[in-house]
Amino acid sequence: MASKLIAPSLLAADFANLQRDIEMVNQSDADWFHIDIMDGVFVPNISFGMPVLQAIQKHAKKTLDVHLMIVDPDRYIKTFADLGSDVLTVHYEACPHLHRTIQAIKAEGMKAGVSLNPHTNVSLLEDTINDIDLVLIMSVNPGFGGQSFIENTYEKVKQLKALIERKGAKTIIEIDGGVTNKNAKQLVDAGADVLVAGSYVFKSNDQLETIKNLKAIVNT
Ligand code: DX5
Ligand code: ZN
Repeated sequence: MASKLIAPSLLAADFANLQRDIEMVNQSDADWFHIDIMDGVFVPNISFGMPVLQAIQKHAKKTLDVHLMIVDPDRYIKTFADLGSDVLTVHYEACPHLHRTIQAIKAEGMKAGVSLNPHTNVSLLEDTINDIDLVLIMSVNPGFGGQSFIENTYEKVKQLKALIERKGAKTIIEIDGGVTNKNAKQLVDAGADVLVAGSYVFKSNDQLETIKNLKAIVNT
């Protein structure tokens, strides 16, 4: 079985010490940097944009997993490729021409991710799953870190895993929101491959140890 991945979300980092927090992730057992871009329209919050991502890219030595919580993401696909994004995830709910958007992301050399809000059923990916590299299931309503995990997520992960297997797709499953040591194992047992963790990592006293433990939990 391929090893399960941990992606600390920089949304919960200390922005006044961003380089320090990036170096911490570089030295940790984490696999990816999860980067949340919010536009204040698709979600009721604004996080940060291109200049900050450019600064992150200068120091980050691991995969850049960019999660766009913005309307009309097609406008910025090339920009995010130029900024070093390895995985670019758009929201299903923000893409009226999802198939075209997925192809455009791949044409820029990135892995194409599609995120589902808690209310969006996985069956809606029936016709696109074979084109999608990663599905990000939101386990909170997008827009803020530090929210409580929605328990229905386990069921969604199982449904998505079944869809992927039925279609013979190679898609991997990422979970985002409220991930802790309490739900991590159950999520990977349900079929998750990548777990995003923001507050749980950055608000802990020993961040390196927290990441190490999370990584161990999901790989035993
Ligand atoms: C929420 C973001 C998440 C967020 C997760 O809209 O997509 O990536 O940073 O934060 P926690 O782990 O604190 O729920
Ligand atoms: Zn995210």
